[in-house]
Amino acid sequence: MKELMLHLHENSPKYKQIYHSIRSLIENKELHSDTKLPSIRQLAEILHVSRNTTLVAYEQLLAEGYIRSEQKRGYFVEAFETIDIHIPTLHAEKYITEENNIRVDFRAGSVDQHAFPLKAWRQCVNEVLKEDIVYMYGEQQGDSLLREKIANYLLQSRGIRTSADSIVIGSSTQQLLMHLCIILKKEYSSIAVENPGYDGARIVFQLFGFQVNPIDVIEKGLCMKQFEQTDSKLVYITPSHQFPTGVTLPIAERLQLLKWANSQNGYIIEDDYDSEFRYQQQPIPALLSIQQDSRVIYISTFSKAFLPSIRLSYMVLPSELLDQYKQHFATFEQTASSIHQRTMARFMERGHWDSHIRKMRATYKRKIQTLVTSLQLAFGKTIRIIGSHSGLYILIQLQNSVGEKTLIQQALEQGVKVYPTSHLYIGNKPDVSMLKLGFSNLSIEDIQLGVQLLKKAWT
Ligand SMILES: Cc1ncc(COP(=O)(O)O)c(C=O)c1O
Repeated sequence: MKELMLHLHENSPKYKQIYHSIRSLIENKELHSDTKLPSIRQLAEILHVSRNTTLVAYEQLLAEGYIRSEQKRGYFVEAFETIDIHIPTLHAEKYITEENNIRVDFRAGSVDQHAFPLKAWRQCVNEVLKEDIVYMYGEQQGDSLLREKIANYLLQSRGIRTSADSIVIGSSTQQLLMHLCIILKKEYSSIAVENPGYDGARIVFQLFGFQVNPIDVIEKGLCMKQFEQTDSKLVYITPSHQFPTGVTLPIAERLQLLKWANSQNGYIIEDDYDSEFRYQQQPIPALLSIQQDSRVIYISTFSKAFLPSIRLSYMVLPSELLDQYKQHFATFEQTASSIHQRTMARFMERGHWDSHIRKMRATYKRKIQTLVTSLQLAFGKTIRIIGSHSGLYILIQLQNSVGEKTLIQQALEQGVKVYPTSHLYIGNKPDVSMLKLGFSNLSIEDIQLGVQLLKKAWT
């Protein structure tokens, strides 16, 4: 197909208009599956825009699974079954080692200390300390002002329509999952989880006696063929940035999951822990945004986008579960600090949150690019880098037969800490060991030094 006439106007970025127009043509079946789309150059000529504009639009459609790219053939509409739903617009690592000589630590669970908005945060805390609210226990579901700000943010950045009343704040993702398990345990006995996946969640499900059914993660995210075989009616997933592989679950699989949850009276627990950090496309709309009031329990955290030590996380509960939550926990006190909750609410109210996210996205983009290019220069074709377009860490595989423990030990001997991933698997581990390298709290110079030391260690 060489002709694709779209009407563009001046009021919003052109790439967004192209993306939205093609997406709705696909969703409305006006563009059928396997239809060949104009090339990036052809579409740019038709629409009188730059090639970069059409490229960015196509990359977003690709990342969300609406289209596919075939080598030397071009772009095609991807096949998937639609359901009648509304898609809104988006405006343990433990190793006992000698650690005294660590020069570069590629730890993932941290944020950039130097970029922390200390002044703005201090101003907000000073104000909040004068408010009556911080001298009390606070609301059971969490500070209502913060819940309101979170609801606004979710609409703006994740396309989720919710209200403060449906949001529950907690001190961590694991703590919220524990509360959820107490409620869900009455009706469900097993849960499907991604394999590999977030061990922190899996441990909670096991602790509460759920049978955990691992579903392999393949190139397109959760393996739906395996998933169809499971008799679990609950699934825990990280669809926007799969932990740890970084894969984005395509729209076809997202729709399939929503349909499954409706038909099974089951629930999808969507962990959207670091969706703010996509470096090449817009953030992918959350699963919950595809079908409002669906059987999706949405969970997110301030640990990645802001600060892990703040211990603030939240979930959006479907109405049925919200009622049960209120009944169950009415006599429990809120677990997150009221001072931090109200300070975060003021921080968001003043606009500091949005500018912080924008700044951090640019900062982390520079760091991840440095890490990836340095690794490519140092290891050439012998390295495979996974998940370099989003998140706060990457995975690497080296073409040698050395095991995970040895690679970590060799790196330590050069003063570098890198992290394992084998504990994230249930059952068989990958044939080639995979290591995790975080970069968020490292300077550009430290990243470069770290890679040089890794080169010494591994070649
Ligand atoms: C997938 C995933 N969800 C949640 C979290 C942690 O969230 P929190 O700090 O709110 O407990 C992590 C931490 O690494 C994670 O990897």
